[in-house]
Amino acid sequence: MMKSILADDAAIEQAVLLLQQGRLVAFPTETVYGLGADASNPEAVRRIFQAKGRPADHPLIVHIPSADCLKDWAIDIPEAAYKLAEQFWPGPLAIILNKQASVPVEVTGGQDTVGLRMPNHPVALQLLNAFGGGIAAPSANRFCRISPTQASHVEEELGDTVDLILDGGASMIGVESTIIDLSGQKPTLLRPGHITQLELEAVLQTKILIASSVFESSDPILRAPGMMAVHYAPTTTAKLCSKHHLPELIEALSRQHKQIGLLTYTFKSIETALIHSINMPISADNYAQSLYASLRELDNLKLDIILIEQPPDTEGWQAINDRLFKATSTQ
Ligand code: TXA
Ligand code: MG
Repeated sequence: MMKSILADDAAIEQAVLLLQQGRLVAFPTETVYGLGADASNPEAVRRIFQAKGRPADHPLIVHIPSADCLKDWAIDIPEAAYKLAEQFWPGPLAIILNKQASVPVEVTGGQDTVGLRMPNHPVALQLLNAFGGGIAAPSANRFCRISPTQASHVEEELGDTVDLILDGGASMIGVESTIIDLSGQKPTLLRPGHITQLELEAVLQTKILIASSVFESSDPILRAPGMMAVHYAPTTTAKLCSKHHLPELIEALSRQHKQIGLLTYTFKSIETALIHSINMPISADNYAQSLYASLRELDNLKLDIILIEQPPDTEGWQAINDRLFKATSTQ
């Protein structure tokens, strides 16, 4: 299995050489680990889809070293894009814009738009600056699985299909970037993340639309496959449950001798031979940071079910609720 290496200067030099040769390099970002390839090399980008087992029509985000590079990838760039980049880059925000003709269709899944992001992680930024081009990178997990927030997760997910894994420690934010679409008439939120709708609206001084799930949408074009309910799922059946209903559910499952994983944050559970519980942090930011690692830990125990205590329904928890909803959808 491909082992990760500490992302020192020599490792980054090696990563740049591999990217130039059209190979795959997994690298840390502040959100989750990405599986990177030279975004201008269609063959390299096709390798990403093979490694992930991802359908070719799911577009990738191109990572760039500064907002100055927007014009290398996009056309008709609205002032709003520069405003958001100025405020939030480097950071967990991806912006969808109309693409330059030169952007390979492999990157955009055949769409006329391209997703762009300047990540806020020293290793990612050093890699981008040393490489000098755009790096296309989805989360470095197998299609529809839990995103990796540590180098060891990438090893577990992708093994030898990746040529190098740069270890830059645990991702600080822990959930994927917020995605805003500025390619049309009205700014539209495609994926909630650490940067919230209200924060975006405050900078843009306008309301932004929220894209409905592709399953509810009458639009036949899949705008953001990340919105599919099947995304981010553990292999173990997972269920969201209010704190109030947890005791009776645990009791009923225990009577059936089910092995239960519990992801709680206020509910104090009893450890029994049948229950493996992880107590999550009470703040949304800390919860998000450890969410995927905790879900992965419970998933790896091969239990019968994972019960997740329903977090509050407030703005700060929006990205978490979105990912938990997807992790517990049985479509
Ligand atoms: O935080 C992140 O964004 C991480 C790190 C590695 O940067 N990347 C990530 O990539 O989450 P991925 O491929 O797992 O999710 C990218 C999302 C997908 O839902 C995809 O549909 C959407 O971005 N996307 C990319 N380009 C798009 C486009 N042109 N139009 C609409 N959606 C797009
Ligand atoms: Mg992903």
